[in-house]
Amino acid sequence: MFFLVFLSLLLPSSASKTVGDVSYVANVPLQWVNCSTWTDQLAIEKVEANLWPPKRNQLLTVYVSGVAKESFLYGNYDKTIVYRGYSLPSIFGSLDDLGIKLPVYPGPLQMIIFNSTIPEVAPDGQYDIYVKAYEQDHAEVLCVKFSWEF
Ligand SMILES: *[C@@H]1O[C@H](CO)[C@@H](O)[C@H](O)[C@H]1NC(C)=O
Ligand SMILES: *[C@@H]1O[C@H](CO)[C@@H](O)[C@H](O)[C@H]1NC(C)=O
Repeated sequence: MFFLVFLSLLLPSSASKTVGDVSYVANVPLQWVNCSTWTDQLAIEKVEANLWPPKRNQLLTVYVSGVAKESFLYGNYDKTIVYRGYSLPSIFGSLDDLGIKLPVYPGPLQMIIFNSTIPEVAPDGQYDIYVKAYEQDHAEVLCVKFSWEF
């Protein structure tokens, strides 16, 4: 079973909290789907990756940039992989695992919604990644879906 492979894609890497005012390397714009339902508190301007399409054995980092419409004091996210149409169990975590230091205030904001090395043994097929984040009042911060195929 490839469960551990998929799990490793979603767990935050230990270094993923150290972001601050880093200036990022050349990023590639991604096709993404806005899966927000109603109030997304981050007005997304772009979604980019360090490389695209992703490659096995390489780190994939996906950045979302936009404008926060309100302050985020604390919150949560969940990430789900749908592999070949089968949804695997979601991973839950704290909003500040997404490359931001809370609290953040209204204004420009960049979040890291994915930062994992794609395992060598990642199986062929279609991968759909869903990342949803919520703030202190349970309003949606973002909902982004992106996909690739091996
Ligand atoms: C992403 O993960 C890699 C590998 O664990 C780590 O070295 C890097 O600092 C992380 N990048 C960010 C922006 O968190
Ligand atoms: C995403 O969808 C939500 C809900 O329909 C909408 O309010 C928001 O403006 C959309 N964001 C973008 C970047 O299109």
